[in-house]
Amino acid sequence: MQVLDGKALSETIKAELKDEVDAIRSAGGKIPHLAAVLVGDNPASHVYVRNKVRSCEQVGFKSSLIRLPEDVSQEDLLAEVAKLNADEDVDGYIVQLPLPKHIDEDTVNLAIDPKKDVDGFTPVNIGLMTLGLPSYLPATPNGIMTMLERYGIQTTGKEVVVLGRSNIVGTPMSILLSRKGEPGNATVTMCHSRTEGMLFHTKRADILIAAIGKPEMVTADMVKEGAVIIDVGINRVEDASRKRGYRLCGDVDYNGLKDKVSAMTPVPGGVGPMTVVSLLMNTLQASKG
Ligand code: GUN
Repeated sequence: MQVLDGKALSETIKAELKDEVDAIRSAGGKIPHLAAVLVGDNPASHVYVRNKVRSCEQVGFKSSLIRLPEDVSQEDLLAEVAKLNADEDVDGYIVQLPLPKHIDEDTVNLAIDPKKDVDGFTPVNIGLMTLGLPSYLPATPNGIMTMLERYGIQTTGKEVVVLGRSNIVGTPMSILLSRKGEPGNATVTMCHSRTEGMLFHTKRADILIAAIGKPEMVTADMVKEGAVIIDVGINRVEDASRKRGYRLCGDVDYNGLKDKVSAMTPVPGGVGPMTVVSLLMNTLQASKG
């Protein structure tokens, strides 16, 4: 089985980005600037945002982290968003999700200037993507597309099954893979919590993309021999033998599948690092105007 090593691939792409930023600096051009808004104390969000900021530093981008308390009002968060929209030095920014319950994520998303929406979450960017027009693509699906492309995994004419229909992963993933182009041109089936007879679908998949947030839910009996497995899940499961009290695992039973499939992403070190790289690529694009 081939391990689809997102960590190594992300380092390669970051080195390419760094070369490009160095060239921009030498030419006296605008250094890309990414801002991140982090609300509250969700531990996973802290880790993700720290990785994003650290990756900016690695490639020579400017980054700003705006931290707001868990009990920040929606009004104050929207004021922060308006400030970022108006800040000419900030090329792109993200508001890390999930937001606290008292804040309406849709209202915040709709306030983001699509030109700075390097997460690709606003209606304008999702609409452009759906039409196949240039846009900021959502980081996780785009990271997966980059990985399929760089590893030379053919998608044309293949049966792709996407598990999960979230706005961030499942839905855009299914749109991108069914679009004309390579990667793309696939026959896509989307499964979700209301799907009946999921096994029928998963067993037909040449490429299975799991984004459901259920630890190790995809087991060997659910997949076809030789399939390609993309595991988007990052789940914390209790593990008393670890110092931090938990371990990370995906939505796929990696050890159970590794002798049956042809290629698979590990967790951690698979899709996660590719997501960060996509965000950097979008920010570079944003800085070019
Ligand atoms: N939470 C989980 N994934 C993401 C992401 O890609 N962007 C943002 N803003 N929040 C997230």
